[in-house]
Amino acid sequence: MPPVQRTPLIAGNWKMNLDCAGAVALARDVARHAAGARVDVAVFPAFVHLDAVQRALRADGLALTVGAQDCSDAPNGALTGEVSLAMLQDLGCNWVLTGHSERRHVIGESDDVVAAKTAAALRASFTCVLCIGEKLEQRERGETDTVNERQLRAALKGLDAQACTNLVIAYEPVWAIGTGRVASAADAQAAHHAARRVLSDILGRETAARTRILYGGSLKASNAGELLAMADVDGGLVGGASLEAGGFGAIIDAAAGLAHSA
Ligand code: PGA
Repeated sequence: MPPVQRTPLIAGNWKMNLDCAGAVALARDVARHAAGARVDVAVFPAFVHLDAVQRALRADGLALTVGAQDCSDAPNGALTGEVSLAMLQDLGCNWVLTGHSERRHVIGESDDVVAAKTAAALRASFTCVLCIGEKLEQRERGETDTVNERQLRAALKGLDAQACTNLVIAYEPVWAIGTGRVASAADAQAAHHAARRVLSDILGRETAARTRILYGGSLKASNAGELLAMADVDGGLVGGASLEAGGFGAIIDAAAGLAHSA
């Protein structure tokens, strides 16, 4: 198999934060910082800010990937409050998160719902950042790899390597999200390595070697260098620290030049 290079990806998940003007200003700052960096950078604003953010970036001639935090798996219909992939495409948005732990554990999405959204997004040629990760009690029972494997197998059921060309995985231990607790670099590497083995089993070695696996959970400028240097950590999905351009920029800088090969 020829060697594969995985370009680092730093993604900011803005969750339900910022007002429209704040989202536009932050996107502009991030885009300016990301210009010329040897890193892929994406931001995920709230649905209601997607259009304004993209228009502002276009108006300023700035390039930045802008994605949605969620999507419906249905094409259209009587689904009050939902947003379809076609609606996102209509805004020029073709990246989406699926299976974020807040959607799984706060909003109550099952593995089946995550699978339906993931499959719909990939079939619509979106880049899909599928989030997986164990809760604290599962970690304490030594179930990290089992939980990740179950979530990966459930979410990718029925999909083959071809369908997963635009798949990105984000490993986000639930106990590390928004808590200030961060996985050690060695623990993150072990979980990523195990997840890549599962991907290899499901999708084949080549796809597994190509697929970026991001770390998420209290990632910030002060711990990014150590985590992102790990062989199977191909970038980060950043929540709190992505809401401030300076800190997020420092994470982008930490990822620059850290392309991993397999
Ligand atoms: P955090 O969130 O960086 O604030 O822990 C990460 C995420 O939920 O994607």
